[in-house]
Amino acid sequence: MLRHDRSGLGTTKFLTNRRQWMLGGICFLTVGFLLYRWSLFSSGDEVEVLDKSTPTSVTTAVGYSQKLDVLNYPHPTDTFRANLRSDQYYVTAWATGGFTNEFLSYVHLLYLAFVSERVPILPPFIADAHITWGTGPVDFGEIFNISALETHLKRPILEWSDVKTVQQTRPSTPEFYSYTNNHTERIGCWSTRARHEAKPAGATRHEGLLGFDASYTRVPNIAYKNPDRQDDPNVMFHALAATIAVRHPYPTSDLPLMAASPSGSKLRPDEHLACYDFLYYATSGITDYEWKYPWSPEWRVIGVHLPFTDRMIDLATKYLRTVYSKELTQSGLNDLPPLITVHIRRGDFTGVGQCSNDKPCRTGTELFAKAVDEVKKQLAEERGLQVPSVFITSDEKEPLFWDEISALGWRFINHTAEKTLDRYGEWYPPLIDTVALSLGVGFVGTLDSTFSTLSARRVEDWNRGAIRLVDRRLT
Ligand SMILES: *[C@@H]1O[C@H](CO)[C@@H](O)[C@H](O)[C@H]1NC(C)=O
Ligand SMILES: *[C@@H]1O[C@H](CO)[C@@H](O)[C@H](O)[C@H]1NC(C)=O
Ligand SMILES: *[C@@H]1O[C@H](CO)[C@@H](O)[C@H](O)[C@H]1NC(C)=O
Repeated sequence: MLRHDRSGLGTTKFLTNRRQWMLGGICFLTVGFLLYRWSLFSSGDEVEVLDKSTPTSVTTAVGYSQKLDVLNYPHPTDTFRANLRSDQYYVTAWATGGFTNEFLSYVHLLYLAFVSERVPILPPFIADAHITWGTGPVDFGEIFNISALETHLKRPILEWSDVKTVQQTRPSTPEFYSYTNNHTERIGCWSTRARHEAKPAGATRHEGLLGFDASYTRVPNIAYKNPDRQDDPNVMFHALAATIAVRHPYPTSDLPLMAASPSGSKLRPDEHLACYDFLYYATSGITDYEWKYPWSPEWRVIGVHLPFTDRMIDLATKYLRTVYSKELTQSGLNDLPPLITVHIRRGDFTGVGQCSNDKPCRTGTELFAKAVDEVKKQLAEERGLQVPSVFITSDEKEPLFWDEISALGWRFINHTAEKTLDRYGEWYPPLIDTVALSLGVGFVGTLDSTFSTLSARRVEDWNRGAIRLVDRRLT
C-alpha cells in the first residue's frame, strides 16, 4: 500500500490539494518517485534488520494506479468521512476467531467487493483467539501482497490505514481489552448473524480501533442460504451484493433495527460505506464452508491471487535455509531443496492427545508418513521429481511426537530456539510456518483443519503440488 506517511520521506506533503495531486503529470512523477523509492528499499533492506517497528516500510509498492483515484487524500485522515470520495462506494467488514478465520473473512470481504463493484477497505488482523490480548494489530498488507491482487483484478483495494488515522497504541489492560480511536464516527452497519441470535457479532475491538459507533440492522431474509432455518449462519454473496447495489440499494425502511450503537444512535445501513459485522460464513450458496473446496469462487477469484508479501517469503525462506543449512553447505547449492511440507494439527483437535500413564498417546504420525509416501510417488510419476526432504509444522507439544518426527528424518523450525517470538512478536511463529508450508511441491495436512486446507490450496495452485489431507480420527 502507499504508506507515504510512515516512511518519513514526506513524498506527499506538497501534494495536499487533491486537484493538483490528481493532475496526470504530477501523478506520473509521483509514481516515478515511488518506484525510485521502492528500488531504494528493496536493495537496502535485509530481512535481518527488520523488526516489528518497521515492517511496513518494505511493503511499499506501486500498486494498481487506480488506487490513487478512490480517496480524497493520499494519506489517512482523522475521520473516514473526510477521505471517502462522494462518487465512490465502499465496503468493509470486521472479523473474529484467530488469524486463519480472520483471513477467510477478509477474503470474503474482497469477493463481496468484487461482485458488488465496491472498493474494499481491509481492516488489520486483530488479536483474538490463540493470540494474547496485549498483541497489537497487524496490517493485512504486511502479510499479503495486496498490489498483486489489485493488478490481477484491475481494481483498487484499500486498507483502513490508508483511509483513517489509527492510533498505534496497544491495549493496556487485558481485562478491558479496548482500543479507542480519537475520532469516533456514527454509522449504520449490517449484521449477518443467524436469526436466532439477538445481537450482532460484537466486533468491539475493530470498532474501537477504527472509531466506529455502529448501529446494526440484520440483513434481509433473502440473504440467508436457508431462509427457513433460524439457526443458519450462512449468507450468500450475491444476495448481499443485491442489497448493497450501488445507487440501487435495498429499501431498509421496513427492516427493524437490530442494535443501537454504544452512544445510542439508530442509523440505517450506510449506502456510501457498506459495513458488516462478520463475513466468515458467506458462501455462493452451493454449500456451507465452501472456501474448503478448490472450486469455490472466493478462492478462485481472490485467494489464489493473493500471495504473501516478498518480505514474508524472504523471512520464511531464511528460516528454511537455517533448517537445511547442512544440506546447502554440503551440496554447495544456493537454492533450497524441493520440499514436501506437512501440517499436523495438535491432538486436542480430535481427542488423540487424551492419554495417561496406562494409555500412551497416539500421535498418528504413521498415517501422515503413509500420505507423504503417496505424495512422493505422485510427484515422481507425474512430474519426474524426487523429493526426499520433508518439512513439518505442528502445534503439538508432546516430546514423544517430536521424537517420532526426528526419527522419520523430517525437519522443523524450532521457534523457541530461534527466539521468533522475541524477535517478531506473537503473530509471527504461525505466520512463518504458514508461508514455509506454502513453499512445498507437495503437501500433507490434517483434514478439517482450516490452516491445513488453505496450505493445501496454495501448494496445489501456486506450485502445481500434490496434496493429501489425513483424517486424524482414524488414529
Ligand atoms: C488522542 O487523544 C489523546 C488524548 O487527547 C492524545 O494524548 C493523543 O495524542 C491523541 N492521539 C492522536 C494520534 O491524535
Ligand atoms: C507483490 O508482487 C509483485 C509481483 O507480482 C512484486 O513485484 C512486488 O514486489 C510484491 N510486493 C510486495 C509488497 O511483496
Ligand atoms: C526447541 O528448542 C528448545 C530450546 O533450545 C529446546 O528446549 C526444545 O527441546 C526444542 N524442541 C524440539 C522439539 O526440538
